[in-house]
Amino acid sequence: MSKKIIAGNWKQNGNIKSSIKLAQDIILGIKKNNIKHEVIIFPPSIYLLSIKNINKKEIINIGSQNVSAYNDGALTGEISATMLKDSKIQYCLVGHSERRHILDENNLSLCEKVSRLRENNIKVIYCIGETLKEYKTKRTKYILNKQLQSLFKSLNNSKRSNKAIIAYEPVWAIGTGLIPSAKELSNTFGYIHNTVKRYNESNESIKLLYGGSVSPENAQSLMKTQYVSGLLIGGASLIAKKFIDICSTI
Ligand code: PGA
Repeated sequence: MSKKIIAGNWKQNGNIKSSIKLAQDIILGIKKNNIKHEVIIFPPSIYLLSIKNINKKEIINIGSQNVSAYNDGALTGEISATMLKDSKIQYCLVGHSERRHILDENNLSLCEKVSRLRENNIKVIYCIGETLKEYKTKRTKYILNKQLQSLFKSLNNSKRSNKAIIAYEPVWAIGTGLIPSAKELSNTFGYIHNTVKRYNESNESIKLLYGGSVSPENAQSLMKTQYVSGLLIGGASLIAKKFIDICSTI
């Protein structure tokens, strides 16, 4: 059976001291609790290399929260996929709702990001999800279809197949304590599964994660949803005990 994936997105939080301590505590917790899942953390990029340094035995995987849509060159403030590769960063998030909705990223630039990452053999966790308004007006499937269509434009064009991961995160569930009902999740993941099958021309193996207000209390039941292979965790990944508790319960 393939490993479950537990990903922790730290967002724009912490400082050098607290980030190293958090990573150390997570590594320790994984060893102590004999956790066999694939654990990936996404610290702020300025701390990536310091954390890589304390993870020499590669107990965890380390990912970047963002990447430039462009190749190296005159682009002030950006970090390219080749720089991530050079620093041996294995994963990158693309399309997180905060980047789509607060930082105005669109499907076109996200497509470019996916392409740059694939060219550099960095695994993509691509986030999709509907806003509260879209959810209330029953446009979830329409929105997910559009987001997936755009993702597969890049995936089907890239020659490299490196096992993309899709994280379904309803925007209204992120940081709110709200989660979809079991029935809604089963319906939506069924839809995502079928849509991926339809667009996935190269038959690349694609895993699906759930994200949005995951906690030690709800992790187990969320993982029971058909087609869910793991969780993307925000707030609860900033507290080592909660994060390890989630890893232990599933
Ligand atoms: P949350 O965030 O777990 O704090 O809801 C999830 C995410 O943004 O990935």
